[in-house]
Amino acid sequence: MNALSPSPTIEKSGSAAPAPPLALLAELTHRCPLQCPYCSNPVELERSGAELDTATWKRVLEEAVGLGVLQVHFSGGEPTVRKDLADLVKHAAKLGCYTNLITSGVLLDPARLKELYDAGLDHVQLSFQDTDVESAERIGNLAGAQKRKMEIARQIREAGFPLTVNAVVHRHNLSRLEEMIQLALDLDAERLEVAHVQYYGWALKNRASLLPTREQLDNATSVVNEARVRLKGRLMIDYVIPDYYAKRPKSCMGGWGRQFLNISPAGKVLPCHAAESITGLEFDSVRDKPLGEIWRSSPAFQAYRGTDWMPETCRTCERKEIDWGGCRCQAFALTGKADAVDPACGLSPFHDEIFALAEREAGAAPPPFIYRRIGGA
Ligand code: FES
Repeated sequence: MNALSPSPTIEKSGSAAPAPPLALLAELTHRCPLQCPYCSNPVELERSGAELDTATWKRVLEEAVGLGVLQVHFSGGEPTVRKDLADLVKHAAKLGCYTNLITSGVLLDPARLKELYDAGLDHVQLSFQDTDVESAERIGNLAGAQKRKMEIARQIREAGFPLTVNAVVHRHNLSRLEEMIQLALDLDAERLEVAHVQYYGWALKNRASLLPTREQLDNATSVVNEARVRLKGRLMIDYVIPDYYAKRPKSCMGGWGRQFLNISPAGKVLPCHAAESITGLEFDSVRDKPLGEIWRSSPAFQAYRGTDWMPETCRTCERKEIDWGGCRCQAFALTGKADAVDPACGLSPFHDEIFALAEREAGAAPPPFIYRRIGGA
């Protein structure tokens, strides 16, 4: 999600009215033909009958723009499952938004790409599971997917879209990172996102299978650093490292309720894609309340906004308005408390424990994948 990176326009901690959000992740559906074990969707997936209809999404897009949103990222699941995708893109584009499609590509074809281009879509982000066909199709659990993706990547460029290749990396594909960089070049991508798996949702269920060793991570970091220098001006490479080997936490979502909102297929408004994993938080729906009201004052957005909620360790840290306390979903997943210090931080009392856990799991034989599927929780 490179387009969601932090911006310098920041509200003051504890201020009554938060600054407007920059970006909306519109999760149109949880339906997807792939079943990747690292999916960031929640373990309890929404069925199609629960999805917002076209008219409601259009109203929500209008409310989002009224609130200040500049970018709309159409995502899922697989957003191309929705037949009204081009209609929604057109609506967002007419409202003046930058529009991005986050897709596996397997359901696209030239006619659909033309429809999206004519609708005003600005950018496509296409995921690849691996460069090795057998491995890629084992990870996504879809035969024939890799060939489709290769074809559609070329068609995306022929249709005139800028292309970002998204490569989620883990112990099963890291040894082919150099090939992945070459693939992005061959496909004429302008950007490559190399993202180590983040362990929430389905990925947390598969952590023991996916976590790389420290040595694999260090090798990957060297490959990325070397390629960034060699390919400067040709290919931009974003790099997200796994929290379990970090010393300081990432600024997750640029801070809770600061820049970003996520709307689930059923209309729940979330501060991040994994927020529903935090039990005890209640999320308002666009079916019941205006988006602006939810952004400004819903209890879930207020819970960890700014710095007032922080434990002493974070509140007295000089990085508190740089990393905004890290990731609330990860703190909850690993400590049971969403307001705990993110264990990715070296100052957390759990940090050494999770580092040891990572080394232990990464050093053992990987268990079979638990594939993501609706009703499979
Ligand atoms: Fe939810 Fe980080 S993923 S705060």
